[in-house]
Amino acid sequence: MNDGSMLPLIELRAVSKSYRKGGERIDAIAGIDLVVEERGMVAIVGPSGSGKSTLMHLVGAMDRPTSGEIGVGGHMVNRLSPRELTQFRRRTVGFVFQMFNLVPNLTALENVALPMEFNGVARAERADRASSLLGQFGLGQRLRHLPRELSGGEMQRVAIARAVANAPRLILADEPTGNLDSRSGQMIYELLQQISRERTVMVVTHAQDLANLANRVIHIRDGRLQDRPPSVAALRRGQESAPAQPSS
Ligand SMILES: Nc1ncnc2c1ncn2[C@@H]1O[C@H](COP(=O)(O)OP(=O)(O)OP(=O)(O)O)[C@@H](O)[C@H]1O
Ligand SMILES: [Mg+2]
Repeated sequence: MNDGSMLPLIELRAVSKSYRKGGERIDAIAGIDLVVEERGMVAIVGPSGSGKSTLMHLVGAMDRPTSGEIGVGGHMVNRLSPRELTQFRRRTVGFVFQMFNLVPNLTALENVALPMEFNGVARAERADRASSLLGQFGLGQRLRHLPRELSGGEMQRVAIARAVANAPRLILADEPTGNLDSRSGQMIYELLQQISRERTVMVVTHAQDLANLANRVIHIRDGRLQDRPPSVAALRRGQESAPAQPSS
């Protein structure tokens, strides 16, 4: 599903997701074609109920499409077996949530080490990597803190460290600054932007100024994309829509 020269990380073809509620059909995602390259930050913006979270869940294989094909990192995620799905979720994608979703009775260090434990990384190595990541994210003095002993911005930085712990190619963040003040939010976006030099970061946001930090902004409304997907020729030239590079 690509020409072999420049592999896009994400490829959606005619993807739809419908829900049935009381005899009524809701087309949360209504026929989306989308190609996202490896690395860089993509912002998903659109009104409430437009399908942003549904799109993220489909790309992260948290949910299956009603129809269409979804490729991520060479995996056809809509066709994976349960076993392959588990591997995919552990290795290829990392999630960041609005409510942080840290394990409350584990320290910052243990929260970041946990996904590596699921992935079979040895104890000493996961402690090393967790403390190094937390140090990079400005939390070197917070390793033994429980989530309730951290500020919102600090909790979200722990959650981002956890999301990148297994070095996934894709980070999915659904309104990661929704519960933060604007200053902490800015810090989170700068961190995501930094991470996007090595990985693809797909982020749902309501904040336009934060969306402006992205390399590309995708508008969604009523389950449909508002911008045209880039042509293969444009991808070859490396000229995707709105290619403004982050100034850093
Ligand atoms: N499990 C479900 N069952 C039925 N309908 C659903 C389900 N999940 C989402 N929907 C509907 O699908 C549509 C898209 O929902 P989604 O959560 O993707 O929107 P969103 O863009 O993330 O909105 P918000 O900005 O408020 O988070 C909405 O109309 C929603 O009510
Ligand atoms: Mg949502």
